[in-house]
Amino acid sequence: MGSSVAGIVAGGKGEPVALTEVIVADPGPGEALVRVQACGVCHTDLHYKQGGIGEDFPYLLGHEAAGIVEATGPDVTGLEPGDFVILNWRAVCGQCRACSRGRPWYCFATHNATQKMTLADGTPLSAALGIGAFAEKTLVAAGQCTKVNPAIAPGVAGLLGCGVMAGIGAAINTGGVSRGDSVAVIGCGGVGDGAILGARLAGAATIIAVDIDDRKLQWAREFGATHVINSSATDPVEGIRELTGGFGADVVVEAIGRPETYQQAFFARDLAGVVVLVGVPTPDMRLELPLLEVFGRGGALKSSWYGDCLPSRDFPMLVDLHLEGRLPLEKFVSETIALGDVEEAFAKMERGDVLRSVVIF
Ligand code: APR
Ligand code: ZN
Ligand code: ZN
Repeated sequence: MGSSVAGIVAGGKGEPVALTEVIVADPGPGEALVRVQACGVCHTDLHYKQGGIGEDFPYLLGHEAAGIVEATGPDVTGLEPGDFVILNWRAVCGQCRACSRGRPWYCFATHNATQKMTLADGTPLSAALGIGAFAEKTLVAAGQCTKVNPAIAPGVAGLLGCGVMAGIGAAINTGGVSRGDSVAVIGCGGVGDGAILGARLAGAATIIAVDIDDRKLQWAREFGATHVINSSATDPVEGIRELTGGFGADVVVEAIGRPETYQQAFFARDLAGVVVLVGVPTPDMRLELPLLEVFGRGGALKSSWYGDCLPSRDFPMLVDLHLEGRLPLEKFVSETIALGDVEEAFAKMERGDVLRSVVIF
């Protein structure tokens, strides 16, 4: 009964992660067992390890993943062994007040597996974002598996499971970027570059990338930025206004999660424009804005959780666009690594050397 697999576990706050034996139960009602083929290293995994998300150690890390369904629970329909899936952390419930109002991308009661994966001694593991995919096999709620065209490379597909989807969705779903719009993206990591791709896909005319690192700005150009601003040298608010006829951008995406860059986003948008916060702040942060400007500028200040994505709608569509050559998701994969290299990948991420390191199993 169950399987014994290798997984990456964060044992305690700030401790290096370790390759550890993980016990994965057979799927029960509503669950699916997935053989993971690829899983990207995301900032949120690092935050778990650092204790920034909670103290429910040990954590089984990894959540930007794609793989093959190996088995499903007794009552599961619409998912079969052999299906190629991207794992999501928004398995919508269909019943909460968001779902019942027809807005499932805000679902307030998403599903995860009921059974916990454990260490060999039976200690229950907390799975990162209810996924835990730095493991050869993982147990999730069936609704966390989104079937997509298996022609896509797993290492590319998995990225849609979190950060890249958050960025694309921040531009398209939350920001409502449309043809001819001007868009500025502040912070050009994986999430910000996703927003650039999303803006380009939606037909934005001007896409301004802002970062403090010239390497990131170079990559941002490759994703479709039409202009770049290094905000350590140039005032980004003035720079964005200059590039938009003196007015500011229609949509500004903040993809860092800091008060000072949020303020830049606020002042760099045109009247009636939209600010989208997709970067994740920390609990100590406070924001100060002139309330008269909040009122007087009109428009909308929005947050984007997971890019307001609906996995069943967005993942297959984005995979198909990629396969048609219209969405170069492969550019996010800076390197492919082995499961044992996750700790080293965190260091590369902190130095800004990579957009995404992707574990290939
Ligand atoms: N001004 C402009 N750019 C900045 C600044 C700043 N003050 N500080 C950092 N940056 C840039 C970094 O140089 C980097 O390119 O922001 C980018 C952040 O990218 P990553 O660290 O790679 O983070 P990413 O994975 O894109 O996630 C961004 O979204 O999901 C959340 O937790 C995640 O809060 C994080 C954010
Ligand atoms: Zn719901
Ligand atoms: Zn993530």
